[in-house]
Amino acid sequence: MNMPKNDKQNLAMVTCTAPVNIAVIKYWGKRDEDLILPINSSLSVTLHQDQLRTITTAACSRSFQQDRIWLNGKEEDISNPRLQSCLQEIRRFARKRRNTGDSTSDVSCVSHKVHICSVNNFPTAAGLASSASGYACLVYTLSQLFGVESEQLSAVARQGSGSACRSLYGGFVQWKLGQRSDGKDSLAEQVECESYWPELRILILVVSAEQKSVGSTSGMHTSVETSKLLKYRADVVVPTRMEEMIRVIRQRDFPAFGELTMKDSNQFHAICLDTYPPIFYLNNISHQIISLVHRYNQYYGETRVAYTFDAGPNAVIYTLPDHLPEFVQLVCHFFPPDVSGEEFVRGLPVRSANLSEELKRDINMDPMPKGIRYIISTEAGPGPCVVKDPNHHLLGADGLPKKSAISDEP
Ligand code: DP6
Repeated sequence: MNMPKNDKQNLAMVTCTAPVNIAVIKYWGKRDEDLILPINSSLSVTLHQDQLRTITTAACSRSFQQDRIWLNGKEEDISNPRLQSCLQEIRRFARKRRNTGDSTSDVSCVSHKVHICSVNNFPTAAGLASSASGYACLVYTLSQLFGVESEQLSAVARQGSGSACRSLYGGFVQWKLGQRSDGKDSLAEQVECESYWPELRILILVVSAEQKSVGSTSGMHTSVETSKLLKYRADVVVPTRMEEMIRVIRQRDFPAFGELTMKDSNQFHAICLDTYPPIFYLNNISHQIISLVHRYNQYYGETRVAYTFDAGPNAVIYTLPDHLPEFVQLVCHFFPPDVSGEEFVRGLPVRSANLSEELKRDINMDPMPKGIRYIISTEAGPGPCVVKDPNHHLLGADGLPKKSAISDEP
């Protein structure tokens, strides 16, 4: 691979994007906190980068004095241990390639300092986890800069944030917990690519929340220390659920996929309640969304819509195109949006639908105005991509962030 290089400055620069992923079998608990090794395997769907992505530029130059990083327009401390783990690991991989002589790229780069600049195209304030796409993008971009191609790349991203390893692939991705104490076999692997189940639709319901939730790192630490249910889940429940989940995805069996997804989300939140002191990620609106989904499915006598929740109150909904317009209309009816004019449904267009009086009556819920701030409509998407057009670099020829690199919000 040929690195884009400005000879005068001896500057090599690469820009890449990486996706967000949402687990349908949740990762919760580490057996090794330094290497970020999980106590159970997990499985996720990679979301499309047209709606949610991180974009990162990394540059190296002989003239750089130190490693530096800018996140969403602000310079951050690069001594952060997780950032350091990723940087050290990727440089180790690059040096190994240089020593074995099988690198085709500019190998001198690895001994230079790097400048990294990264932005998300979604607001951090929305409470959507950005660490997965952020670390996946960092590791992928550095691997491109240093010419590293490795099956082990997900093990590097994992050391930034566990769930980040799954963002290195598109479609349906499993993170196998592995057996080794050095973590070399704790890797992400694609189960099926993004085009395998093209009908699958995804909605993110961004819920209005007053307080910040407990972070997943400290939350899962307390769960491992105090929850007996967590051990049972890891030893007994997840191994069979992983097999079942892979099977139902391969069969594109939505009702089975939806039911398993909801049960696994519920078990994760049950473990949060079993944690001492308990952790509450779901709020009143989240509970109302859960009721709405179950009542809707009950009305039709089949699982047409499924929810899952991570370490916060936002819901992620999986459904199929036939049911999407009606369900979105139902959400608008029971969570009437703020009329101030901000777009309520963003992302992929959703057709409008008529709600029958019978359905509304049967759901029998009191509307909760402004409970949901907005909806992002999306689908499954590909893994990280290289951005070829140099106009999209977030760093200028001086190696410093461009004025436009504050945010990539649409
Ligand atoms: C509930 O990957 O954010 O989203 O490894 O400590 O960085 P660290 O945790 P993180 O945890 C994600 C937890 C989850 C479930 C999941 O994505 O599988």
